[in-house]
Amino acid sequence: MPEESALDQLLKSGEFLHHLDMDRKTADLVFDRRTIRALYEFMSSQRIDYVDFPISAGKESVVFKVIRDKKPLVLKIYKLSTLRFSTTWKYIEGDYRFSRERISKSNFVYIWAKKEYTNLYEMRKNGILCPRPYDFHKNLLLMSYLGNQVSPAPRLKDADCDYGSVYSEIRIFMRAMYQKAKLVHADLSEYNILYHRKHAYIVDVGQSVSREHPAADFFLERDVKNMSIFFTKKGIEAPYDDLLSFVKGTGPYE
Ligand SMILES: Nc1ncnc2c1ncn2[C@@H]1O[C@H](COP(=O)(O)OP(=O)(O)O)[C@@H](O)[C@H]1O
Ligand SMILES: [Mg+2]
Repeated sequence: MPEESALDQLLKSGEFLHHLDMDRKTADLVFDRRTIRALYEFMSSQRIDYVDFPISAGKESVVFKVIRDKKPLVLKIYKLSTLRFSTTWKYIEGDYRFSRERISKSNFVYIWAKKEYTNLYEMRKNGILCPRPYDFHKNLLLMSYLGNQVSPAPRLKDADCDYGSVYSEIRIFMRAMYQKAKLVHADLSEYNILYHRKHAYIVDVGQSVSREHPAADFFLERDVKNMSIFFTKKGIEAPYDDLLSFVKGTGPYE
């Protein structure tokens, strides 16, 4: 395909990597060829000017601050090399939105960005603070940036904040997530909550599952346990049973 060879040439010339502010060797270490190609396509279609700096590099994803029209955005790249079909399936099973027929062994790696996009969208629709998802393409997700000009918003784990008011917010978000968005986060912890403009924001919802998922209760109980332990350590009254019954309960929102 002529298009492919043009892209190949571009990749070889290093011109594109210059926009990434990364040399070829580093890019090769972080990204496989499919990801570099997807990155090229997405940066063009989304008119992203350049990649500013990596905010976080985890086992399964790398998160970058990127710039479009002088404004910061966040690009999350799911690493294709570490995603396994077996672990992916665990989080998709039972979710009518991502039924088995639509996921093949060759495209399952792309489900994460789509799933995170969809989940963020549902959460925002239901009043839960989280990044605004803009678009996704293959294993890439573009969303709003949380932070200021100097640095990204801290994780709850490192934030200097009023834990009592953050806990009140988190309880309500957990309940709205379960009862309105009908989702369970499934990896909720002080690492996946950012403290931005004096509010708690929930991130990292690629693995979040629908309430219909066979292990939804197990995941919910684990999330509740993590939150209860964290806030209790911070001196807040946050017993496990109270939080679980509030999240699942029928009583009024406090
Ligand atoms: N929209 C965002 N704005 C600012 N920082 C973010 C944003 N999304 C993620 N981050 C940062 O990147 C880290 C990793 O992102 P996360 O979605 O949790 O992926 P991972 O699966 O690698 O944990 C987060 O802990 C947070 O510090
Ligand atoms: Mg995370």
